[in-house]
Amino acid sequence: NKISFLYQFDFYIIGDNMNIIFANWKMNKSVEEAIAFINDLNNNVSEFGDDEIIISPPFTTLSEISKIKDDKIKLCAQNMYFEDKGAFTGEISPLMAKEFCEFVLIGHSERRHIFKEPNQLINKKVLSALSHGLKPILCVGETEDERKKKKTDSVLETQLKACLKNVSENQIKNVMVAYEPVWAIGTGKTATPEQAQEAHAFIREFLTDMYSQTTIRQLILLYGGSVKSDNAAELIKEKDINGFLIGGASLDPQLFTEIIKNSK
Ligand code: 13P
Repeated sequence: NKISFLYQFDFYIIGDNMNIIFANWKMNKSVEEAIAFINDLNNNVSEFGDDEIIISPPFTTLSEISKIKDDKIKLCAQNMYFEDKGAFTGEISPLMAKEFCEFVLIGHSERRHIFKEPNQLINKKVLSALSHGLKPILCVGETEDERKKKKTDSVLETQLKACLKNVSENQIKNVMVAYEPVWAIGTGKTATPEQAQEAHAFIREFLTDMYSQTTIRQLILLYGGSVKSDNAAELIKEKDINGFLIGGASLDPQLFTEIIKNSK
């Protein structure tokens, strides 16, 4: 009884059988390793069905991957700065990301916690991505301590409100939100399907205060945090889980393909 997505992106009609499966490689893989992965995944595109498969590789591999990947594989930048160009050593701009990617991850938990990115900066990045025609995946999620103190809802509320400030009704249609509880990332502790569904339902409900119900009913909500081939099937059954953001288990093409198969 999943929601039927009638409209989301410019080009797609997202239907009941369509899930969005993201591989976030984080800081892993040389160019050679990335090419080997993509060659392998190219041979498995028949397993994708209606699913949208998106790879978020290190920037250094984007150019080579874009030359060899099957058209069914889409690319996502792991981060970007909000300015177009200039003296910002170590950063990449939306214009650079756009040369290879349709999507960009914004506010990933590792950006928030290791690199101390605040909500205000994340908001600037979301707005900049949208204004350049890049589709942002806004990541939100609570820490273990916040969950224990029963602050999950208020943390999500604060993050969503601040990070989506000034994002219009029309623009939100090009945003996906990823719920990634910090305590589940890279820890092997997956949120139970009930915990994930509860958070996703809360996010959808909260956003209907900011946008119309029709729009938010169609918003794609991804779950991330220790997704593996053996827990994907249960998680994807939940009504408000429309896909996954996968870290560790996305590094091996066979394991990743197994998750795609088990998410049907
Ligand atoms: P893991 O799948 O390794 O827990 O990472 C999740 C994540 O951060 C995806 O963006």
